[in-house]
This record gives sequence, structure tokens and C-alpha cells, in this order.
Amino acid sequence: MIIRNPKPWQNPRSPVTSKRLYFNRRHFIKSLIGTTLGATTLSLAGCETSNSEQAALKETLNQPKISPLSTNPKFASVNRPVTDEILAGSYNNFYEFGGNKSIWSKAQNLPTDNWQVEVTGLVKNPKTYDLDDIKKQFPIEERIYRFRCVEAWSMVLPWVGFPMKELIKAVEPTSQAKFVRFTSFYDKKVMPGPMFNFGDLPWPYTEGLRIEEMANELAFFAIGIYGEELPKQHGAPIRAVLPWKYGFKGAKSIVKVEFLAERPATYWNTLMPNEYGFIANVNPNVPHPRWSQATEKFISDGPDLSWEIKETQLYNGYQKYVAQLYQSEKT
Ligand code: MTE
Repeated sequence: MIIRNPKPWQNPRSPVTSKRLYFNRRHFIKSLIGTTLGATTLSLAGCETSNSEQAALKETLNQPKISPLSTNPKFASVNRPVTDEILAGSYNNFYEFGGNKSIWSKAQNLPTDNWQVEVTGLVKNPKTYDLDDIKKQFPIEERIYRFRCVEAWSMVLPWVGFPMKELIKAVEPTSQAKFVRFTSFYDKKVMPGPMFNFGDLPWPYTEGLRIEEMANELAFFAIGIYGEELPKQHGAPIRAVLPWKYGFKGAKSIVKVEFLAERPATYWNTLMPNEYGFIANVNPNVPHPRWSQATEKFISDGPDLSWEIKETQLYNGYQKYVAQLYQSEKT
């Protein structure tokens, strides 16, 4: 059943079945009509994507190369293929630009010139960075990470960026700093928001971590993907990537990083606290209130595009890096 522009409570999730479903590549981009977070509805009746649309999409993915670039050998591969670049760049969540997956063209209105990121709060060395500062000051590398959305789809993505712990070293949080908050760019003139009406939405999009999560080796700021600068739909020019957590923790297009004493309010947790927690670790044993998280639809590549049903891994397969952070709690 397909519901157009559903309210969040109306969203039936497309069932996770054990069947491998193949989609025709030409139908795929137009036919993936996502709805709200946690509720992806697929239409296979989509019309064909025109050549000019495909060309426009490819153009958005054609970004300056990041070089020299080396892949961190620890994160050079996972036991799954890297997701097709065109597919990853046309199947996005960026609610500032709309409530479906096809926001790639609307996201081109994101103004990214002269971008600055203010790093502030409980730190000894507050600083506002521009992109050149970031590229010069931090060790830029490639990492191939699994990516798991709370909606139970997953990809494998080759990010380019630097570990968050390098920013911690640079700004030196004080001993009072226990949390960090990431704030995304917001300007309602260029960001229409989702079509569904939740009432007042708590823009700007914010997310947060405990400080020891941010210091974990895996926590990463991405400034690129597929060897090139981030396309706007992926959260240009800088976003958070936290591969052991659900994708909504990775705020896009970050303009502010604040070190705080108290746990910050975050976007989805404010909107639907019973559905989207603050910790939000990938965990097959903790179902979302509206669906199981035991399996996921892995979106990769092939002659045809496919969802492949895989078992969800605890911490998305990154137990050895992060399990010690959560020993005393059920997350
Ligand atoms: N950041 C902002 N600012 N706005 C968003 O809507 N969506 C989140 C996250 N970061 C989101 C965001 C969600 S739900 C997911 S799954 C990922 O971005 C999607 O990242 P991708 O589109 O690059 O795959």
C-alpha cells in the first residue's frame, strides 16, 4: 500500500522480507518515494527517469577531487561491496529539503560558499574554521564504513574526512565538557522542509554525542565521499559520520560544534522521543517501536539495483571499537 504524503502515524513500513527484490535501474531513482523517517514506502510504478534528469544528477555528484588521498588501512573495506555512487547520491535523507528520498535536486539550493564552522562552548581554544583551515589542519583520509539508517536500510560508503578526536585535541574541551552538539545549517528561505505537517519542527537540525563517544576512533567528520568533495545532498561541506549508530545521528552541513556540560536536546529526539533515542546505537535486539531492527535491506549495486536482506549486526559490526563505551547499559 502506498500512502502519498502520509502523516508519520500513517506510515506503513515496507515489510522486510527474506526475498531478494530487484529493481530496474531506470525506474529506481524516480520510484523510491521515501516518506518520513522510519517509514519508507516504495512505488515501483514510477515513470522512467529522463536522460536530462540523470545528467543533472550526475552533475551534482561531479565534485572536485580530494587529493592526495590515502585510505586508512584499518578501514579499507568491509565484508560488503561499496554502494553505487549514483544510487547513494539519489537516495538521501535531508528533511530540510523535503520528506522523501529524492531531495538531491532541491538540496542544490544549499549555499556552501565561504562556509564556516564555529567550535565553541566548554573548550580552551574556541575557533571558527573555514574549509581551508580544516583541510590544512586535520589529517584527511578515506574510510569505508557501513552505514545503517534507522529505517532499516543500509549501504557501504567511502567517506573522506578526519577523526573527530583530532578536533578534540585542537580545541581542548575543559573537564566540565561532557557532551557535544552538532548544529546543521538552516535557512527556511531555501529549505522548504518536509511536506508532512508535524506542526512546528525543531529546526535547525541538531544532534549530539557524549564526549567519550566523540573521542572514539570511529567518530568522523566527512568533507568528501567517493574521493571527491561532498555533494550537497550528502551534507556538504562537512557532516558527522558515526558508523555504529543509526544514520540520523550524523548531522549534515554542520555550522556549529558546541561542547556542553548537559545532554543537548536533539532534532528527532525532541520530535519523537519514544522512537528516536539520544544514544541510538545500531542494535538488532532493540526494535524500533514500529518495526524490528533484526534485519536490514542492504542497498549496493549490480547489473541491477537490489535490496539484499542481511542480519543487522550489533553496533553495525563495530563492537570491537565501541562495546566498551556501553558496558553498563542496555542500548
Ligand atoms: N542531517 C540533517 N541536517 N538533516 C537530515 O534530515 N537526516 C539524517 C542524517 N543527517 C538528516 C541529517 C538521516 S535520517 C540519515 S539516514 C542520514 O543523514 C542520511 O545521509 P545520506 O543522505 O548522506 O545517506
